[in-house]
Amino acid sequence: MEQLRASIRTVPDFPKPGIQFRDITTLLADPAALSTSVSLLADHVRASGADAVAGMEARGFIFGAAVAIRAGLGFVPIRKPGKLPVETVGVEYDLEYGTDRLELDPSGLRDGMRVALVDDLIATGGTALAAAKLVQQCSCEVSTAAFVIDLPDLGGADRLRGSGIDVKTLVSFE
Ligand code: PRP
Ligand code: ADE
Repeated sequence: MEQLRASIRTVPDFPKPGIQFRDITTLLADPAALSTSVSLLADHVRASGADAVAGMEARGFIFGAAVAIRAGLGFVPIRKPGKLPVETVGVEYDLEYGTDRLELDPSGLRDGMRVALVDDLIATGGTALAAAKLVQQCSCEVSTAAFVIDLPDLGGADRLRGSGIDVKTLVSFE
């Protein structure tokens, strides 16, 4: 885990003053750290009994698609608004630094599927809770929510666990 932690760059005051931005660009460029993070997340996703992986735009696409391939599962993109060319289910949510909306094309899911959420980082948990709502609106269940990075001071992992969602994180930054 020290290898993973060391591969993540911290950029102060991005995108706003006071935010310590935990930047995965450096992890992605490090073959060992990339492979370790994807393998560990994929092991957990497999163990959760997932039938599919969903990743949140944009950084969740990088890890989500890689984890899905590694776990032998399909991938469902959860997108920022206005990107999908079909009728979607959508939900608004709060970020550490703003608000946004997520949308999902339900045709990739079938009733009763177990879906693993994968993203690079959990902060307030707003994104992951919104993604969980979308999955549940599609009559599916969240098998786990798995992240490379946890920012425990922002309470997101605890919020998810409080909503009954299993959470896995690899590295914490206090
Ligand atoms: C970041 C990150 C998570 C989310 C975590 O994405 O990749 O998706 O914030 O924050 P939360 O737990 O407080 O919701 P962002 O919305 O910045 O989008 P990006 O992946 O397009 O950079
Ligand atoms: N998304 C939300 N908060 C973040 C942070 N502090 N660093 C990187 N991505 C984030």
